[in-house]
Amino acid sequence: MKLSLVSLTLPLATVALPNVGYARVRNNCTETVWLWSVGTNISAPYRLQQGASYAEQFSRDPITGGRALKITIPENGLYTPGVPQTIFAYNLDGAGIWYDLSDVFGDAFIGKKLVVASAEPTCQKIIWPTGVPPAGSQVKVCTAEKDVTLTLCAD
Ligand SMILES: *[C@@H]1O[C@H](CO)[C@@H](O)[C@H](O)[C@H]1NC(C)=O
Ligand SMILES: *[C@@H]1O[C@H](CO)[C@@H](O)[C@H](O)[C@H]1NC(C)=O
Repeated sequence: MKLSLVSLTLPLATVALPNVGYARVRNNCTETVWLWSVGTNISAPYRLQQGASYAEQFSRDPITGGRALKITIPENGLYTPGVPQTIFAYNLDGAGIWYDLSDVFGDAFIGKKLVVASAEPTCQKIIWPTGVPPAGSQVKVCTAEKDVTLTLCAD
């Protein structure tokens, strides 16, 4: 019998949906960033220092459907007019997860590489080599069983 290491590392307190992965943000930048998880409601801000990660299990918001992880460099950036936001949005759709990356109010990570990638290597990545969104739609869809991670200041 083969036990899955992954299942052993799930937090015991959360009611994990079977076969649904996590949306993750890993901050590899030297500067601290701030993250809000946004659906119908907006979470309290999460502070991510260099090397820190945020994760939430994929879910559907009962009203907005999709959910968004909004990131700013300044503290309180979500509530400060004109501060650039980088938005990792996802939409759980049955067995699939749709994911997208976008910027509003400017480009917070200009000059830095941003990558959104599934743990399933055959899924398409979103890569912004210089932190600036390319023209055209970036939306990808992949299996919802595997985590999808946004890495800030990737290699
Ligand atoms: C949003 O917050 C309100 C008030 O705390 C709560 O009653 C509601 O269930 C929340 N909705 C979602 C979709 O999380
Ligand atoms: C994070 O950045 C450092 C250089 O600053 C690099 O060596 C490392 O591989 C990066 N990690 C990832 C996951 O991109």
